[in-house]
Amino acid sequence: MRNKKYYITTPIYYPSGNWHIGHCYTTVICDALARFHKMLGEDVFFLTGTDEHGQKIEKEAKKRGVTPMEFIDPLVARLKDMWRLLDVSYDRFIRTTDKEHTECVQKIYQKLYESGDIYKAEYSGYYCTPCESMWTEAQLVNGKCPDCGREVALQKEESYFFRLGKYADRIKKLYSDKPEFLQPKSRVNEMVNNFLNAGLQDLCVSRTTVKWGVQLPFDKNHYAYVWIDALSNYISALGYLSDDDSLFQKYWPAELHMIGKEIVRFHAIIWPAILMALGVPVPEQVYGHGWLLIGGDKLSKSKQDAVRKELTDPYELVKRYGTDAVRYFLLREIPFGSDGEYTNERFLNRVNADLANDLGNLVSRTTAMILQNFGAMPARGKVEEADKELIAMAEGLFDKVKDAVDRLNAPDALAEIFAVISRANKYIDETTPWILAKDAGKKDRLGAVLYNLAETVRICAVMLKPFITKAPELILKSFSCDVNDGFESLAFGKLKEGAKVEKLPPIFPRIDIKKELAEVEKLVEQMKEEQPAPVAETVKKEEITIDDFAKVEMRVGKVIACEAVKKSKLLHETVKVGDRTLSILSGIAKHYTAEEMIGKKVIVVTNLPPREMKGILSEGMIVCAEAPDGTLSVVSPEKDVPDGSLLS
Ligand code: ME8
Ligand code: MG
Repeated sequence: MRNKKYYITTPIYYPSGNWHIGHCYTTVICDALARFHKMLGEDVFFLTGTDEHGQKIEKEAKKRGVTPMEFIDPLVARLKDMWRLLDVSYDRFIRTTDKEHTECVQKIYQKLYESGDIYKAEYSGYYCTPCESMWTEAQLVNGKCPDCGREVALQKEESYFFRLGKYADRIKKLYSDKPEFLQPKSRVNEMVNNFLNAGLQDLCVSRTTVKWGVQLPFDKNHYAYVWIDALSNYISALGYLSDDDSLFQKYWPAELHMIGKEIVRFHAIIWPAILMALGVPVPEQVYGHGWLLIGGDKLSKSKQDAVRKELTDPYELVKRYGTDAVRYFLLREIPFGSDGEYTNERFLNRVNADLANDLGNLVSRTTAMILQNFGAMPARGKVEEADKELIAMAEGLFDKVKDAVDRLNAPDALAEIFAVISRANKYIDETTPWILAKDAGKKDRLGAVLYNLAETVRICAVMLKPFITKAPELILKSFSCDVNDGFESLAFGKLKEGAKVEKLPPIFPRIDIKKELAEVEKLVEQMKEEQPAPVAETVKKEEITIDDFAKVEMRVGKVIACEAVKKSKLLHETVKVGDRTLSILSGIAKHYTAEEMIGKKVIVVTNLPPREMKGILSEGMIVCAEAPDGTLSVVSPEKDVPDGSLLS
């Protein structure tokens, strides 16, 4: 029999660079679900990516004097880095600038144009650039964008429209025929009351003013509306309408599009309408989760930086507290489907109480007592009345967690696991192993108690694997279990007598919350003061191979003479490079005097073609570092090596 398949997606992220812990929420939930379904043996395809077209990117790149791709590439690298830090196990990372994606979008437009679902008409509306949304005058609130409250601009153009209006009834019917399609339920009411009941206007789906996007195949002056471009990623990633659509055949329709509640309208109205027009089945479910809030507002970096003391930077959070702590907080603390307040204190309390105290203590007490009294895993022993509840809870855990995951409810799933962990800690208090240890006649009983604890810990570790990624492996290793153990290993009694047990360093060190809060506040102040490097500086150049690099000959040189070149920014150096003496011009006169340069060991590129400037021949280049403010610094070898030495 073929394995059940599970296609799950996150939204594709804007390459803003300003990511905060709120952004991690959608993707960490998806990762936990994807991991859980993989452990169930299902054929999982987990998609995430970036949403790279549109006016905002076009403008930001222009502002920095770089191309859109030069602007985006380092940001995408940074986003991937964030997912790596959080152990996000996506199967595919799609970028809307990928060739296969843009081609797919063009084919989608072509298809809808040919079927008459896209047509041309005159259009005027109010455009909100930050939201990439077009509004009618009636939709504006006090003349501003109804979503974000910012300025909008009147735009008039000939545009292509998608016949969204035609699909309003079918979408309403979809909601009633298939109540699981849009969850949680409150979102359905929002969509019906705010949009569908009033009827749907046709949707403007092309732009002529924004050129950073997908060009329409049937009218080269027009570019695809970014939301159609973006939504299409869910099927373009599977090769829809391409030469090889085997992934599409296999995985579509998606089991789940997980998204934040602010983009439900796009996913639960526009997207199914597009799919209906294409004759493609709609996804099984769209889930619009709630927001992480700060002070009651949606957490957003720009708003939050000015006034708040909360540490929201995911890179910094992972660095300070580890991957597990961040994942655990996100999955456990926010009531699923609702908003949840974010503060440093809530984060630290949650991590301390559950991970350091409950789980960390249980693991360290259990392994320590086993090693102290037995040196290795004791025998299972006889089950007594006092053991039954704990064993039953450990044995019943999988079903409870599975049930919660089936409802997508990670907080409930984790609450079930931590109920067993708490029960195990209570079991230690009830069975008092430290007293049993004093009585030689109770050695078997002591062994049985410790065995039951170890088994409970092991089972909890396996159940935790989809949610947190580091500690479960450490725990399984410490009991000499395979870190790849999955749900098939859950039967109580699997640990073998005599198996090696290793003591773990504290997996979650206890945090002194008061002290930590003070430090975090200081850190946040510091981070606010630190100017981010201008983006152009962080732009990574095109990738090269090691062979490309090897083509550059660089050697250590010694400046033996130097003079300024009149009426220029140039210094003229005479540089000894082994047995050669090179004449070199460098544009560093604003940064060094001729005297300063004499005697310096520098790095010289020695295989450039010679060229003449100001009547002087330049036979090489002195390597400099350029700071973001433009200051140049000559690079010197760290040790005193002879001139002529080759860089490699
Ligand atoms: O919307 N709390 O991308 P995005 C919880 N490119 N989740 C939050 C959050 C918060 N405070 N802030 C952001 C886009 N998110 C489009 C999607 S899909 C075809 C195109 C979540 O980078 C947000 O809800 O603005 C969304 O799920 C994700 O971060 C990416 O948002
Ligand atoms: Mg957003």
